[in-house]
Amino acid sequence: MKITFALNGTVREMDVHPLDRLLDLLRGKAGLTGTKEGCGEGECGACAVLLDGELVNSCMVPAIQVHGRDVLTVEGLGTSKNPDPLQRAFAEEGAVQCGFCIPGMVLASRALLQNVSRPSRKEIRTALSGNLCRCTGYEKIFRAVEKAASWGYGEQCGRELLFFDSSPVFSTEEKEFFFQPCSVEEALATRERFGDEAFFLGGATDFYPDFKNGRILPKRVIDLSRIGMLKEIRRERENLFVGSMATDTAIMKNPSLAAFFPAFVKAAELSGAPAVQNRATLGGNLASASGAADLPVPLLVLGARVLAGNTGGERAVPIEDFFTGYRKTALAKNELLLGVQLPMGDDPVPQAFYKRGSRAALTLSRVSIAASTEMKSGILHSVRIASGSMTAYPSRMPVTEAFLEGKHLSGALIDEAAACASREISPRTSAAFRKAVSGNLVRKFLLSLQDHH
Ligand SMILES: Cc1cc2nc3c(=O)[nH]c(=O)nc-3n(C[C@H](O)[C@H](O)[C@H](O)COP(=O)(O)OP(=O)(O)OC[C@H]3O[C@@H](n4cnc5c(N)ncnc54)[C@H](O)[C@@H]3O)c2cc1C
Ligand code: FES
Ligand code: FES
Repeated sequence: MKITFALNGTVREMDVHPLDRLLDLLRGKAGLTGTKEGCGEGECGACAVLLDGELVNSCMVPAIQVHGRDVLTVEGLGTSKNPDPLQRAFAEEGAVQCGFCIPGMVLASRALLQNVSRPSRKEIRTALSGNLCRCTGYEKIFRAVEKAASWGYGEQCGRELLFFDSSPVFSTEEKEFFFQPCSVEEALATRERFGDEAFFLGGATDFYPDFKNGRILPKRVIDLSRIGMLKEIRRERENLFVGSMATDTAIMKNPSLAAFFPAFVKAAELSGAPAVQNRATLGGNLASASGAADLPVPLLVLGARVLAGNTGGERAVPIEDFFTGYRKTALAKNELLLGVQLPMGDDPVPQAFYKRGSRAALTLSRVSIAASTEMKSGILHSVRIASGSMTAYPSRMPVTEAFLEGKHLSGALIDEAAACASREISPRTSAAFRKAVSGNLVRKFLLSLQDHH
């Protein structure tokens, strides 16, 4: 296929395969070797670039999604003779040793500073949490970002993005294999025609590791990235609708979700690091049906319904019935996941999401718990608790819920509920650890209600 995009401010046209990685276009076709390949699986950030001003890992961006967009690599900042201020700050602070991670670090820092011009140390840590450095240690890198911020880098680094709106041109051969619909109807008609032989492509963060290892070799691909309706988050009568192509970042930034469904927003915040969050979608997270996926866990306690569509219409599936087995869902072969409906009451109910793992930007959580309840005069009603990373798919904890329902919140009840939760879960591995942590997280939620009360 032929794509056109802006690369460091210059319009480029390239002949590519639709699933070529942006990383390979940059290093191979454009000869820009500043962008590095480390893990090739979204974990290290060495390949990070800005796509339409947002940080992404270029090892996980397919060429088909680069058409018409604006790419900034480290070569677009400055040269060694004439570095831009952020690069100079890295050099002055001694933040560079072998330099392998630095292009990614610099672009992650720029992505932060263009949004938050005077970030706190915590914000810097979070912004760089997806970038690994094997030699310098992070202290000098953090100091370099602070130095550039103190020079007003954030205020100066804005640049106009170049966009195009024409569609990419597929070769005659590719036309039967790659589809880039602009509407849900078009996507559904294609899926109806080919069934699950036609693979839906979202942000590709789950797709690429499997594609790289040969676990997925899609015969046909339907890229969903141009369907605006699937990216929407909007009020629909008594529900909030979150489209399946809404990214973790879009979920984190939405004020209605923050006000009514903070547990869901927290799960998006704790899903990977910024370069992943900017690409990872709600639909991909649900459709992958991983036992360790984060977003389904709060959805289970918030009464969510999954909207699935085919050429005949739509149906709403309660999230409890959506997962049917390990990596299996209730979606039929001709169905597309359109989004999720979240029922909104007059006021948000107390709720929480907790995740435990070894690294903040970790792919898999080891334990996650979500909980919600309506509390009146110290009595717990409509208690919902769900756990992730324990079994084949995330699920509710009916025994602990029933134990708490209708009871008066007290210190003794909290201890008993924590013990009940530990007994109820049956993790496949690391059982002692997971049981202890789950009990503690249930305790944490109930204690937060007591403090609140
Ligand atoms: C470094 C790294 C860290 C990660 N950290 C986390 C984490 O902390 N927590 C977590 O939960 N996940 C994490 N993930 C996993 C992944 O980012 C999420 O599952 C993400 O939400 C997948 O969305 P996507 O758009 O990238 O999916 P894709 O890779 O595009 O698609 C995944 C699957 O979903 C299907 N699909 C996509 N959209 C639809 C649709 N609308 N209808 C039907 N099927 C569809 C695809 O066909 C495919 O089978 C991480 C991944 C990486 C690489
Ligand atoms: S090479 Fe490690 S995130 Fe892309
Ligand atoms: S400077 Fe060597 S990996 Fe970071």
